[in-house]
Amino acid sequence: MTDDEPAERIRTDGGTAEGKDGEVSETPLADGGAVDEVALDPWGSSTVSDYRKLFEEFGIEEFDEVLDEVPNPHYLMRRGVIFGHRDYRPVLDAMRNGDDFAVLSGFMPTGDPHIGHKLVFDEIIWHQQQGGDAYGLIADMEAHSARGIPWDEINEHSRDYLLSLIALGFDPEAGELYRQSDNDRLQRLAFELGGKANFSEFQSIYGFDGETNVSHMQSVVTQMADILYPQLDDPKPTVIPVGPDQDPHVRFARDLATRMRFFKVTEAFASFELADAERPLVAAAHDAREEYAEDGDVPRCGEAADWLADADLDAAGVLVSESVRESAVEKLENAGMEPLRPRIRFFARQATDEAFEALIEVIEGEKRRYDQHIDAFDVGVDEAEELAREVEAHHGGYGFIPPSSIYHRFMTGLTGGKMSSSIPASHISLLDAPEEGYDKVKSATTGGRDTAEEQRELGGEADKCPVYELYAYLLTGDDDELAKEIYDECVGGERLCGGCKEQAATMMREFLEDHHEKREEAEAVLDSLDIDLETERRGVAAEH
Ligand code: TRP
Ligand code: SF4
Repeated sequence: MTDDEPAERIRTDGGTAEGKDGEVSETPLADGGAVDEVALDPWGSSTVSDYRKLFEEFGIEEFDEVLDEVPNPHYLMRRGVIFGHRDYRPVLDAMRNGDDFAVLSGFMPTGDPHIGHKLVFDEIIWHQQQGGDAYGLIADMEAHSARGIPWDEINEHSRDYLLSLIALGFDPEAGELYRQSDNDRLQRLAFELGGKANFSEFQSIYGFDGETNVSHMQSVVTQMADILYPQLDDPKPTVIPVGPDQDPHVRFARDLATRMRFFKVTEAFASFELADAERPLVAAAHDAREEYAEDGDVPRCGEAADWLADADLDAAGVLVSESVRESAVEKLENAGMEPLRPRIRFFARQATDEAFEALIEVIEGEKRRYDQHIDAFDVGVDEAEELAREVEAHHGGYGFIPPSSIYHRFMTGLTGGKMSSSIPASHISLLDAPEEGYDKVKSATTGGRDTAEEQRELGGEADKCPVYELYAYLLTGDDDELAKEIYDECVGGERLCGGCKEQAATMMREFLEDHHEKREEAEAVLDSLDIDLETERRGVAAEH
C-alpha cells in the first residue's frame, strides 16, 4: 500500500513502532544489539516495541494479506489496528460460504473494563454480526490464581465486563457468556486437555517454575479449554481476538487441538514416510515423471531418486536445503523398484479399533490397510480431512480444528507509555463519568509541536499522538473520512492540539453518556441470563 491510499493514511502506529507497519525496518532485524528483544508474556507487561518483529520471530502473519478476503471489514481492520493473525483464512472462508464458525475471547476481571477492552468487545460483536457463534468469558480462575484478586472484587468486575459487552451490542441470546469457574463442561474439557500437556511445556512456554502455584497452572489448561470450547459440540473454524501477548496461549491451544486428534492425514507417495519439508520435493519428482521414467504410468522410486539428485529445484519452484534433498533422495533410492504413486495416508494416532474400522469403511475407491495406517488412492486431501474428522466425532473424539487468532495493537496510555488498568489517568474506563472522560482527554499528551507556529509549519505527529489514536480506535467509529480528515489536517499543520483535544474530549463525553445509558438497559438483560455473579466463594487470594 502506498501513502496515498486512504486506508493507510488513517493508520496510526499507536506511538509504539517507528514508521508504518509493512515498511522495511531501517535497523536490520538481525542486529540484536540495536533492537530490544520482544518477549510475549501473557502475565508480563503488555507493550510491544516493534510489531514487525512479531512477524519475523513468532510467525504471526500480517493482517493486510487477508484484508481483501474479509467481507465488510471492521474499521479496526481497515485501519491496521488489527495488525496480525494466525491462520484466519478458514474463518473467512466459513464466513463467506455461510458455514459455521465461532468467535471467542476472555477477560480477566482484575479492574474496570476500559477502552482497550472495548477493542476486543467490538471484535467479538462484529464476528457475531457476520454470523459467527459468539462467546465471551470471564477468566475468574486466572484473575484469582495468577493475579491474586479476591472473589468479591472478581464478582463485581465480572458484572461490569459483561454489562459493557452487552451494551456495545453483544447478543447474549444468540451467543454465550460464562464464567470459567462456573462452567462444568469447560472444566471437564480442561481436565482432558491437561492429559496432553506436561510441566516441561509449562516451563518452556510460560517460564513456570517450582514456585508457580498449581491453580495458576490449572487456569492455563482452563484457557486452553476456553479456546476450544466453541467446538465442543461440532468442530468449526474459531477465531480468538486478543492482544499479541496471548499468542503463546493460542499456539499451545493449536498444538493441543492437534494432539487430541484420532487420525493424522498426510500426503504420501510410497510406503515410506516423508518429513513435511521433503514432501514438495517428492511431489515435484512425481510431476516430472515423464522426463525420466521408462514407463511414465509407473515411475519407480529409484528413477525418481536419480532425477531428484540433480534436478534444478529452483526451476521446479521448490526451494529447499541440500540436506533435505539428500534425505529425500535416500528414501527414494531405498524404495528402489517400488512405484511412486500419490496417495493420502491416514495415521491412526490414538484412534480406537472401532474408529479405525469405521474410517476404512467410509473411504471410497482403492485403499490399503496397514497396521497403523490406511493409504487411500482416490480421495483428495480436503475430503480426507473431513472423513477423518467425521469418523472421530462419531466415535467419541472431538475432531478439533486448530483455532485461529487475530491480534490488535495495544493502545498507548493517555499520559504516554502504556495504557494500564492500574494507572487511572492512562486510560479511560468504560465506567468513568462522562465528565471525567472529557477531562482525561483534555489533559492527554499529544503529538503536537512546542509552539503553534512550529505546528503550522511542520504539522503535528499524528502517528505518535494518543489523542489521534482515540479518534482512530474509537471516536470516529466507522467514519473513515472523518478519521482521514483529522489525520491530514494534523500532519498538514492546519489542526492545533487545543481545538483537536476539545473535539475529541467532547466526542468521548458523548460516547460515555451513550454507553452508560446502554449499560443501564443491559442490566435487565444480564439479570435474565443464567450467570451466577454472586457465588459465594471462600478462600484467600492465591500466592502468585
Ligand atoms: N488470559 C486472558 C487475559 O489475560 C484471558 C482469557 C482467558 C482469554 N481465557 C481466554 C482470552 C480465552 C482469549 C481466549 O486477558
Ligand atoms: Fe494529536 Fe490532534 Fe495535536 Fe494532531 S492536532 S498532534 S492529532 S492532538
